[in-house]
Amino acid sequence: METVKLSNGTEMPLLGYGVFLVPPQEAERCVSDALKVGYRLIDTAQAYQNEEGVGAAVAKSGISREDIFLVTKVWISNAGEQKAAASIDESLRKLKTDYIDLLLIHQAYGDVFGSWRAMEKAYKDGKVRAIGVSNFQEARFFDFAHYVDIKPMVNQLQCNALVQQRGIETVMTEFGTHLMAWGPLGGQGVDGIVKSEVLSQIGSPYGKSAAQVALRWLTQRGIVAIPKSTHKERMEQNLNVFDFTLTPEEMKRIETMNLHDTGTVNFSDTGFVKYLIETYG
Ligand SMILES: NC(=O)c1ccc[n+]([C@@H]2O[C@H](COP(=O)([O-])OP(=O)(O)OC[C@H]3O[C@@H](n4cnc5c(N)ncnc54)[C@H](OP(=O)(O)O)[C@@H]3O)[C@@H](O)[C@H]2O)c1
Repeated sequence: METVKLSNGTEMPLLGYGVFLVPPQEAERCVSDALKVGYRLIDTAQAYQNEEGVGAAVAKSGISREDIFLVTKVWISNAGEQKAAASIDESLRKLKTDYIDLLLIHQAYGDVFGSWRAMEKAYKDGKVRAIGVSNFQEARFFDFAHYVDIKPMVNQLQCNALVQQRGIETVMTEFGTHLMAWGPLGGQGVDGIVKSEVLSQIGSPYGKSAAQVALRWLTQRGIVAIPKSTHKERMEQNLNVFDFTLTPEEMKRIETMNLHDTGTVNFSDTGFVKYLIETYG
């Protein structure tokens, strides 16, 4: 598996497996399948309520812990220094491990500076190998990254052929922050990418599907992608994207598909923020 190097030198696989909306009772089976197929990065979150299934699959896999890259995220209800610190220990327990490879703040709301202090401490204590954020859009990201001591090593954002996140690239580069793409196939129940005619046409001479072209396009740009599927054959398909290279013309053609540069979720919408805070804060 190709890797990217984070700003602190940590090597992270370029392609991983995500478990958003994988029900807790299915998570162990899905992650076991993903590990058998060859994934070595697993992306979960406290909010997904499936960290225990992930931990069980990893523990039973027979694969050395250091060969697996585990990502989890601190949820809004655990924001703040003390609650975040306790939640990190709880995640470690559920994941059945003594360290997390990458820990992210899931959403940019609540006492994120308090959470970050707890994450910096966990990082210094060796409980976490790398720390970062998720869903921090440009201005929010800049403000946060400017004021914290340890700069976020990753910002996990919705990023795919229709949501290319070009605008935030420069400011993230300034802080040495790596882009990690959630929803790399367009997200659950959305067909715009996996049924795209443009992507299918581009993939056809290589014998690749639209989904594979979408993942190749991200990874060829050095963006870490974490597609989710509960089906083993799709897990295999999604991982099989390193034996072909898109030409500069094909890369440029995909660039023209960009529809919503910063994403389809409006994180500045007060109604959305209110909903998150009232439901989980
Ligand atoms: N930080 C955040 O706020 C955030 C938000 C969303 C997601 N994420 C992370 O990013 C991961 C991926 O995002 P996502 O799960 O939203 O969406 P996604 O990976 O872009 O797309 C998943 C959808 O595509 C289908 N699919 C997978 N492979 C396919 C293929 N080869 N051909 C056709 N359809 C295919 C899946 O269906 P089947 O399962 O039926 O195969 C599922 O409906 C998540 O699992 C999670 O780890 C993070």
